[in-house]
Amino acid sequence: MSTIGAPVNRTDAWAKVSGAARYTAEHPVAGLAHAVLVTSTIPSGRVLRIDDAAASALPGVLLVMTHENVPRLPPDTRHGKVQPPGGRRLTLLQEDTVHYNNQPIAVVVADTFERARAAAALLRVEYEAAPAALDFGQAKQASYPPGKVQGDDPDTRQGDLQAGMAAGGARVDATYATPVENHNPLETHATIAEWHGERLTLHDSTQYMKGVQRTVAAIFGMAPEHVTVLCPFVGGGFGSKGSAWSHVVLAALAARRLGRPVKLVLDRAQMFGPVGQRPRTEQRLRLAATPDGRLTAIGHDTIAHTSMLEDWIEPCGIVTRMLYASPNRETTHRLARLHAGTPTFMRAPGEATGSFALESAMDELALELGMDPLDLRLANDAQRDPGKDLPWSSKSLRQCYEIGAERFGWRERDPRPRALRRDGKLVGWGMATATYPANRSPAACSATMLPDGTAVFRSSTQDLGTGTYTVMSQVAAETLCMPLDRIRFALGDAHMPEAPVSGGSTTVASVAPAVQAAGRALRLKLIGIAAADARSPLYGATPDRVGVDRGADGAELYLLDDSARRERMADIVARHGAPVEATARAEPGAERQRYSMHAFGAVFVEVTVDEDLGEIRVPRVVGVYGVGRLLNEKTGYNQLMGGIVWGIGMALLEETLVDGRTGRAANGNLAEYHVPVHADVGDIDVQIVDEDDPHVNPLGAKGIGEIGITGVAAAIANAVFHATGRRVRELPVTLDKLL
Ligand code: MOS
Repeated sequence: MSTIGAPVNRTDAWAKVSGAARYTAEHPVAGLAHAVLVTSTIPSGRVLRIDDAAASALPGVLLVMTHENVPRLPPDTRHGKVQPPGGRRLTLLQEDTVHYNNQPIAVVVADTFERARAAAALLRVEYEAAPAALDFGQAKQASYPPGKVQGDDPDTRQGDLQAGMAAGGARVDATYATPVENHNPLETHATIAEWHGERLTLHDSTQYMKGVQRTVAAIFGMAPEHVTVLCPFVGGGFGSKGSAWSHVVLAALAARRLGRPVKLVLDRAQMFGPVGQRPRTEQRLRLAATPDGRLTAIGHDTIAHTSMLEDWIEPCGIVTRMLYASPNRETTHRLARLHAGTPTFMRAPGEATGSFALESAMDELALELGMDPLDLRLANDAQRDPGKDLPWSSKSLRQCYEIGAERFGWRERDPRPRALRRDGKLVGWGMATATYPANRSPAACSATMLPDGTAVFRSSTQDLGTGTYTVMSQVAAETLCMPLDRIRFALGDAHMPEAPVSGGSTTVASVAPAVQAAGRALRLKLIGIAAADARSPLYGATPDRVGVDRGADGAELYLLDDSARRERMADIVARHGAPVEATARAEPGAERQRYSMHAFGAVFVEVTVDEDLGEIRVPRVVGVYGVGRLLNEKTGYNQLMGGIVWGIGMALLEETLVDGRTGRAANGNLAEYHVPVHADVGDIDVQIVDEDDPHVNPLGAKGIGEIGITGVAAAIANAVFHATGRRVRELPVTLDKLL
C-alpha cells in the first residue's frame, strides 16, 4: 500500500495545465503599479546624470527612481550584506558606480506596464566611463584564490603530484574551457512588493523563501516576522533564484516610496547580468596512470571569473577530490575578476563544469593507455572517499556502469575513432561518470488534522516545478496511513516552519524527513488525546502499544494487543472539537562526519556527426543512477531526464557570448541563446539501481535535481571524439569546431 516510490501524478498537475496555478507576476493585487528595471549600458564607470524629463512627462508615470532620489539605506545593509546563499552583494542605487554592463541603475514605475516600459526607454543616461576588465585571458594573469570553496580550502594536496606524474607511464596534461552560461527558466525573476504600514508582503519567485525574508528584513532593519514572502509556484530556478537579487529590494523601495504595491518583472535580456550566471572556467587536468590503468596522479586547477562585487567560485575541483582513487592528488581554485555580473549557482555548480574536464581527460587517458574508457573507470573506482578518507554511506557506481554498458551495448564498441558509420554519418560512442553530493539541511514541518479527517502539512519550502508538492504529500500520506487525496501539502509561505534553500539537490532529503517527523508527532498527539478520553476505545493506551492502519473508512489507530479496540483519527479530532496540530524538526546528525554521501551514475551517449556540415545529433543516451530511494518514479525519472537534457544543451548549445568591447551579452535572448528543444533530444533511457542507504536521511533518498546534468557534456564530447577523431576541449562543441 506504500505510496512512496509509486509513479504518482503531480498533485498540482491540474492546477498547472488549467492555468489555476498562479506564478508570482500573476497575483492580483489592488492598486498595483508596474515597474521596469533600467540597467547600465556600459561595463565600468559612474552614472553622472539621468535625465528623466521626457520619461516623467509621459502620462501615467509615477516614479523614476535613480541613485539621486532613492531612499537611503543604512550603510551596513546597503549592499544586502547577508551571508550567502540568502544574501548577495547587491546594487541598490545607493551609489553611482557601475560594476558591469546590465547592472540596475534605475526603476521606472507607471500605472501600466506599457507606460513604464515606454518611459524607461526615454531616460537619458550620462556616464563617465572607466576602463573595464573584460578580457578573461588578461584577468587571469592576476588571478587569486577565493577564501573558501564550499567550506573547504581552495587548494588541496595529497601525496606528491609531480612524483605521481613521473611514475605513470601514460599521461594527460590538457586544458578545458567552459563558457558563461545564463539561467533561462521560463519564468523570469519577478517580485510584487506591498507595504502595510511597517509590514511588507512580497510575492517573489524564489528557491529560498526564508532567504528572501531574512535578506529583505536585514536590509530594511525589520524583524523577519514582519516580512511575508509568498511563492506557491516557481517556473524554474536552476540556482539563479537561490538568492534575493537587487530587483527584489528595489521593488520594495519603490513600493514604499509610492505608498502602493509595485510589480517588477525582469525581461529576458535582464536574465543576463543582474541575477547570476555560470562563470567562464578554464581547467587544467593532469592525469597519469600505470599501464594497467591505475591512476598515479590526478590534478585539477580551475580558474573561473567573478565580478568586481563579490568573490564567487565555481568549485570545479570538488569532483576530482572524491571521484577516483589515486595516491597523489591536487586541486586548486583561482578567481579572475571581470566587470561582469556576479556568478552564482547553476545546476550542479562545480560538478557540471568539473566533470566535463575530468571526464574528458579520463577519456584522453584511456586513449593513451589503449584501454577501454569504461575499464579505466572501473580500475579506479574509489572504495572510500579519497579526499575525506571516509567510507561511502552507499555507492552503486559499479552496478551503474555495468547496467548502463549492458543497456547501451557498450561492449560492442570498436575503439578506433571514425570506425563507425550509419546513413552516411559518423557515429561515436562516449561515456562518463556522474556524481553529486547527497546534501541535507535542517528543516521543519507542521501537520494538522482537521475534523473532516483531512490533514494539512506545511513547510516553507519551494516547488521549482520538480514535484515537491507531490512527493511530500506521498510521504505525509504514508506516515499517516492516509490516501493521498486526504492530504494537502502547503508550501511557499515564509511564515511556515523553516525549510532550507531548494538548491544543492537538498529539498527532498531535508524536508521529507521533517514531513515524516511531523506526521509521527501528530499521530502521537492524537494517541495522547484518545488515551486521555474515557469515550475513546483507546482510553488508557500507551503510545508504544498503538499502531496505525488504513482502516475501512479512513486511517485508524488501534491497540497492538487488541486490534478490535480502534478508532478513526478523524473521529478523535471531531470529538476533540478543534484541529490537532503538531510541529517537528528534522536535521542531519553525526552520520555526516562518519560517512561521505554522494549519488553516482554512469552516462553512455551515442552521437552522429555529419562530416560535411559538422552537425552533431544525440540519438540516444543511457543514464543509470544510484540515488538511494526514489520517492516518485514519475517525477524522479523526469528530474533525471531533465538533467540529461540540460547536459545536451551544455555540450552542444549553451554559451553566453559576451561582447569584448562592451561586456554585454550579445545573445541575451532565447532566439540566440540556445537551449535544447524536443528536436535536439533523442531517446533518453534513465534507469535507477536499487540502493539502500540507511545513513543519508530517514527516507534513504538522495537528491536528484543535479546529478542528471553531470558527466553528460563529457560523454558527448568523448563520443564526438570517437566519431570524428577531433578532441574538442572547449564547450560548447559547435559545428565550427569540427570543420
Ligand atoms: Mo541548484 S544550482 O543548487 O539551485
